[in-house]
Amino acid sequence: MLHLAYMAEFPKKLQKKLSERKAQNAFRRLPTPHNLMDFSSNDYLGLAKNEAIYADTFQLLLKKGISENGASGSRLLTGNHSLYAELETRLCEFHAVESALVFNSGYDANLGFFSAVPQRGDFVFYDELIHASIRDGIKMGNAKSYKFKHNDLEDLKSKILLSLQAESRSTDCEVYIVTESVFSMDGDTPDLKAMSDFGKKEGYHLIIDEAHAIGVFGKNGSGIVQHMAIQDAIFARIVTFGKSIGAHGAAIIGSKALVDYLINFSRSFIYTTALSPHTIATISSAYRYLGTQEGESTEGCYKIIFLVLN
Ligand SMILES: Cc1ncc(COP(=O)(O)O)c(C=O)c1O
Repeated sequence: MLHLAYMAEFPKKLQKKLSERKAQNAFRRLPTPHNLMDFSSNDYLGLAKNEAIYADTFQLLLKKGISENGASGSRLLTGNHSLYAELETRLCEFHAVESALVFNSGYDANLGFFSAVPQRGDFVFYDELIHASIRDGIKMGNAKSYKFKHNDLEDLKSKILLSLQAESRSTDCEVYIVTESVFSMDGDTPDLKAMSDFGKKEGYHLIIDEAHAIGVFGKNGSGIVQHMAIQDAIFARIVTFGKSIGAHGAAIIGSKALVDYLINFSRSFIYTTALSPHTIATISSAYRYLGTQEGESTEGCYKIIFLVLN
């Protein structure tokens, strides 16, 4: 009875939207679990099912004497368990960067970055095919934002020129440019070298989301930015652990000042329960795996798959 009473109260406007979705043949349903062979997930390297990583994670928790199931609070309160610092140090070494800050997911990382970093009076320029999490973060922030044509540096340059000329801007106005190093739908990559040269020359801040490059491009899967040796020209990189790493979570990597700023102002970092020790141990183990000889071969594997598909 209760159930029926609740159903009757479902708002008409929302019901209308659901009906429209169905009429457009675009109604989303959760898939049922199956035992089919995986040709479609983001687990590009099969690390989510890798037994060595599973066993290593267990050993790491045993060695550290960690038996907690959950983090128990946000990282600024009780949730900052010892595995976090170890993982962040590992990420800095692996990704040749000064500082790293782990977030609960790539979605959280992008929301937390773009809602907090660009300020009122600043400008954000984003590739028209950029991930939804970046768009959502930009919408939550106070900076003006403009999209540029997919992977088109000339369009980016002219959009910046036009916008900066048209708007009255303050002397301390900052320009942020964001793109992905591999776009998931077509697997294509912008000319990051040209983009970073341009950003460096003009004093603009470049942010690269490496969600789909980590694990599969660059030495030991360290990503395209490092492969091109342009990391020093990048303001921030977003690396995620739910795809090739086969786990869950993400990190923003950049300068110490950036990490200090995010710890203080990034709301999706501050107001949420931290990841469990088990998840952090899994990410650490997966990175350890990438650092081994087996990990080294992942880049080659991906190149072969890429060649076959193209
Ligand atoms: C480019 C990009 N950034 C961020 C995310 C979000 O990452 P996560 O799944 O860890 O929330 C995704 C996931 O699809 C993505 O493709």
